[in-house]
Amino acid sequence: MRIPFIAVTLLAAAPALAQDVGWIDDARKVASSVPPKLLAVLQTEIAKGGPEGAIEVCRDKAPAMAKAASEETGWAIRRVSLKNRNPKAVPDAWERAVLEDFDRRAAAGENPATLEKAEVVTADGKPVRRYMRALPTQELCLGCHGPADKLKPAVSEKLKVLYPEDKGTGYAVGQIRGAMTIKKTM
Ligand code: HEC
Repeated sequence: MRIPFIAVTLLAAAPALAQDVGWIDDARKVASSVPPKLLAVLQTEIAKGGPEGAIEVCRDKAPAMAKAASEETGWAIRRVSLKNRNPKAVPDAWERAVLEDFDRRAAAGENPATLEKAEVVTADGKPVRRYMRALPTQELCLGCHGPADKLKPAVSEKLKVLYPEDKGTGYAVGQIRGAMTIKKTM
């Protein structure tokens, strides 16, 4: 695991936080726990009923898994994207800046699978620990997030009904589809 870069940034910026960077490991574990579970369910459901049969799974299971993990860990957990499908998955200003930075770092050659950002910010006078981890696309994702004209008609029709404002298509393998974003007020 690659803690050092962030840890060093924090150490240099705020010595008082030095003994306190352990939270980043915790955040990393929490943010990394949900995507593999969701991927496993997606794989099973796509094998059973194609991507068109797995849309509801993604719609209902993803938020349910995030909620369960939130309750278990005390972190507020959600997914966001610069081209969101769920109308609620709009990034806030901090998240938007991080997602734009992820895109720049990926374009500059960093492996999208390892892109992460950790920072302590202040909101309403309280310190808030924030952590984001990029969610790059792989082949399987393209069945529902690939170019609109390459989606199966059954997938397009379902998406049109469920997400009339969908912006979450047009991706190729290895692009950053969005991110897990988690935060905890201290
Ligand atoms: C079976 C179709 C399907 C597949 C396959 C799929 N997704 Fe999605 N994805 C969706 C749906 C539907 C939503 C909206 C879920 C909701 O309503 O919260 C979504 C939402 C998301 C979001 C949340 C932000 C947004 O736009 O609402 C991210 C991030 C995301 N998907 C990434 C991925 C990645 C990465 C993969 C591959 C590992 C993937 N998806 C595979 C259907 C799919």
